Amino acid sequence: MCGIVGYSGPITVSNKPLEVCLQGLSRLEYRGYDSAGVACVGPHMDQVALDKKAGRLSVLEEDLKLHPLPEAQVCIGHTRWATNGEPNDTNAHPHLSKDHKIAIIHNGIIENAVRLKFELQSEGYSFTSQTDSEVAAKLLGRIANVIIEETGKPNLFEAMRRLGKMLDGTFAILAVDVRQPDVVCAIRRDEPLVLGLGDKETFLASDVTAFISYTKHALEIGQDNAVMVQGDTIVVTDFDGNKVTPKEFTVDWDASAVEKSGWDSFMKKEIHEDPAAVRETLMSRFDLDGNIKLDEVHIDEKLFKTIDRIVIIGCGTASYAGQVAKYAIEHWVRIPVEVILSHEFRYSDPILTPQTLVVAISQSGETMDTLMAIRHAREQQATVLSICNTQGSSIPRESDAVLYTHAGPEIAVASTKAFVAQITAEYLLGLYLAQVKGTLFHDEINGILSSLRAIPEKIDWILKHDSESIQDVAQKLVSQQTFLFLGRNVGYPVALEGALKLKEIAYTFTQGCAAGELKHGPIALIEENVPVIVIVPSACDRNVLHSKVISNIEEVKARGAYTIAIAEEADPDVERYADVIFWRPQCPTLVSPLVDVVPLQLFALYMAEAKQLDVDKPRNLAKSVTVE
Ligand code: M6R
Repeated sequence: MCGIVGYSGPITVSNKPLEVCLQGLSRLEYRGYDSAGVACVGPHMDQVALDKKAGRLSVLEEDLKLHPLPEAQVCIGHTRWATNGEPNDTNAHPHLSKDHKIAIIHNGIIENAVRLKFELQSEGYSFTSQTDSEVAAKLLGRIANVIIEETGKPNLFEAMRRLGKMLDGTFAILAVDVRQPDVVCAIRRDEPLVLGLGDKETFLASDVTAFISYTKHALEIGQDNAVMVQGDTIVVTDFDGNKVTPKEFTVDWDASAVEKSGWDSFMKKEIHEDPAAVRETLMSRFDLDGNIKLDEVHIDEKLFKTIDRIVIIGCGTASYAGQVAKYAIEHWVRIPVEVILSHEFRYSDPILTPQTLVVAISQSGETMDTLMAIRHAREQQATVLSICNTQGSSIPRESDAVLYTHAGPEIAVASTKAFVAQITAEYLLGLYLAQVKGTLFHDEINGILSSLRAIPEKIDWILKHDSESIQDVAQKLVSQQTFLFLGRNVGYPVALEGALKLKEIAYTFTQGCAAGELKHGPIALIEENVPVIVIVPSACDRNVLHSKVISNIEEVKARGAYTIAIAEEADPDVERYADVIFWRPQCPTLVSPLVDVVPLQLFALYMAEAKQLDVDKPRNLAKSVTVE
């Protein structure tokens, strides 16, 4: 949830450490934006220099202009999504040791903080904040002083290792100490941490977006590892001090991908990247004969042949992408597919066997609920394949295999291009299974792949032709309090996704439901002018499904609803019954979610804009949910 960043550069002091951290924080602000803070250390400092403020990063930046920090050799910075203690200046990070010689920033939750705090209080320590992180700061200060007593010199690295062993819960902690002014140390458990390898300098951060303008070369830091960084010298060990060799990787996108590049918001930019997300995810996954090749997945074809059941896990948008794929994979591969919300998975005591393939979907690769579900699945001997958008993140690292989506970094809290990329990757997986199990003929697979390859152009068509009318309708409906979203079959998860988008960024009460369920309750919500958005399937491809949905439109219309349809071009039945239609080009029903969702993404965006809300950073939310 929180974003952390650190920098250690050449021996000379300068403003660069602070600049790097502030730029990193602006890139990580999507992870949390309740408060922000920085701490700097340079030679001859007696105490850490720091500043921290409640509110957005801009509040801190303004304060730093009024009260500049001294030039430094190292810096750490934090942007917070509050878990322990309300968002205010005091609870903001960094937190200090008792003597103010050490500062830490923390992402995660320390579960034994209450007991540790009690022990420290009994030794005379006092606390100013309500956070668990301050407990870690005070404890680290105490450990560091014990080491100085034992050895006669400071050793922040060893102090951090000892701290790591004493903490329960989850953490990525960065620390600086005025007695080692060129060093930044870190420890991590179950929270993300990557290192960026620069020229005579090293960056530490929750994810690579923080330092992508400086370097594309990065290291993944493993579970229960400690790191010492001094300029470009990096030492990584476990908590017992045994050396560890971290895995190096190269980021495959540019700094421009995390810039707005002229767009009003990241969300708008990312919706316009939907076509590229589908195209890139399909790319380079075929051999010369057109067969699907998933070599990167490193799962033996023989194992794939034995898979007799799939369980898809994910949260929010990722779980809806899973629900879409269920329809397609069951149809193509003829094996049962179950979709379970990650946070419900372990507690539902799922039936898993070595023949069960668990597919974990996550844009960020850091969603804690999904990570915990993966661990449970692997303990039960199931094979876990993750579908993920973020290199170097925890979920692919802890899975047996990974199929990356190539949507590029997604910054807006509301997920858009990741959704279409996730469906594309799941479809590739489904078709691959159909190929190895022989449940579809080669030409059938090719036919579906052709429809998938045609999707980017169809999305472009929607972006070009529908945007204006969607914006007009959003402006007209801006004061509506309730929206109902209806869909059947693959249109049902699309309705759920549309409802989630509008809810999370426009703060409108929405209900997504299966159109057939309407008569079993939700229809009671319909009164004069309540807007109902309906995903209408193709009349050519699925006639029966189509006529059922048309009947649903008639039912709500008869009760006064204002009906908005997402429908295939030139569908005469829709024209007869819907008040407004957002057209989409023709495509087979199973691939239609990839296009149907686009008007819904745009609608949520324009509603939030019409309400003058911060589209990219909706209240109470964070991009990456790294606590359970
Ligand atoms: O990073 P993940 O894909 O694991 O995130 C899962 C959900 O938290 C995420 O999709 C969330 O629902 C989005 N804010 C929806 O727009």
